[in-house]
Amino acid sequence: MSENREQFGSRLGFILAAAGSAVGIGNLVGFPVNAAKNGGGAFLLIYALCVVLLCLPVMLAELSLGRHTKKDPLGAYTSIAGNSPWRIAGWLSLVTPFMIAVFYSVITIWLLGYVVNAATGNLDQLAAPDTFGNFINSNSIFLYLAAVATIIFLILAGGVQDGIERAAKVLMPLLFVFLIALVIFVLSLDNAWAGVRYYMVPDFSKITGSVINGALSQAFFSLSLGMGILITYGSYMNPKEDLPGATKMVALCDTGVAFAAGLLILPAVFSFNPNVNPEELSDSSVSLIFTFLPKIFLALQGTLGYVGASIVATTFFTLVFFAAITSLVSIIEVPTASLMDARRYSRKKSLLILGITMGLLTIASALSFGKVGFLTELVNYAGASRSLFDIIIDTFYDTILPLNGALVCLFVIYRWRKTNFNDEVEQGNPNYKGTFLERYVNFSVGTFIPVILFLIFINTVAQKYFGVSLIAL
Ligand code: PHE
Repeated sequence: MSENREQFGSRLGFILAAAGSAVGIGNLVGFPVNAAKNGGGAFLLIYALCVVLLCLPVMLAELSLGRHTKKDPLGAYTSIAGNSPWRIAGWLSLVTPFMIAVFYSVITIWLLGYVVNAATGNLDQLAAPDTFGNFINSNSIFLYLAAVATIIFLILAGGVQDGIERAAKVLMPLLFVFLIALVIFVLSLDNAWAGVRYYMVPDFSKITGSVINGALSQAFFSLSLGMGILITYGSYMNPKEDLPGATKMVALCDTGVAFAAGLLILPAVFSFNPNVNPEELSDSSVSLIFTFLPKIFLALQGTLGYVGASIVATTFFTLVFFAAITSLVSIIEVPTASLMDARRYSRKKSLLILGITMGLLTIASALSFGKVGFLTELVNYAGASRSLFDIIIDTFYDTILPLNGALVCLFVIYRWRKTNFNDEVEQGNPNYKGTFLERYVNFSVGTFIPVILFLIFINTVAQKYFGVSLIAL
């Protein structure tokens, strides 16, 4: 059926869709705070090195594998390696996006709730201390779940060109405009530049092994690697497309948005409280978005009035919501493509099956914040009780993601083989042949990148589940 496979309509369409996948909650909140706490400019430098030296080659490997096989990730592994143990890697790259979509949906549902509340005059409530805890355990989240599921269904039911690509072409430019407008506004506030200084001035003494590990994990997640997304999107690409060129554009876009988000969050924090110690900011993006930032927006009412502050807050939450929707679309497309490829189901039927299964799991994890006791304290490991939501994050996001990355690298170089990989990239970019980039990509994907990812995987397993640190970082 590969001759009839859907395709992106244009190069720009692909770049916006892939950037839509890459730009997410991680860029807008996780990155700025991580950077500010871990050495500012020094962290930015390490992050950029991780993107260029370690993530770009993996992106290229995933996209080429998808474009060559014209299949979803499971189909890509099996069409090259048949019934061999590589199937396991195929299954992992199917189950991982499914489960990550579940936890990401929960956060997206909350975001929509915050957009609606900020827009309808409830910013003061959002900034109150108990609101978040009450909100996530309220029945209104079911309404927001239904709305998010409908939006995702409508986008994905449209298919690659009329759904994914079209949504990205509308949402991504809007996202850029909102982001730039907010950055300009925030930089005009009193004390904003203290935040910029804190964010950008490098402090190399903060760079430790664990900061480097954190930067790599952040970059890897941010570029949507190890989730089968780029294999799937690659399968919708035209063979004439210049893969290294497109890859660089997507990475640039993703990193640019992450960087700009820092120029929004930190100045906002400093103008709220000039004596703030950013070391004390929470590591968790969730508590920053939902409990800390509403307070900052509300404080703007001193200068802008309540309506003005609400407009800024609504714009911010909408920005993050758009980023989350385009990421969710890309991740749910992976199991959708699998059902369509492997079972020959129609797009709508596949989406309905996923809607029901994923919907149930999403409800279960949304209830694991106290509302249902046994889901909240589902198991104990490494000395602490973990909720269903925690388990999904620990297992799929923290642990399996780097493993998937290592496996795809090894598969491309040693099973599919280097020459086939190179041929695929050269198809759209004949100048790639013999370049330093080609040699670097072949060498890194075949050696140190999978080794690093594998070590991260082993270390995370030891740490998360057994409470021991194997590698002193
Ligand atoms: N790049 C996304 C982010 O930064 C990660 C992601 C992609 C999450 C796709 C879910 C789905 O948030």
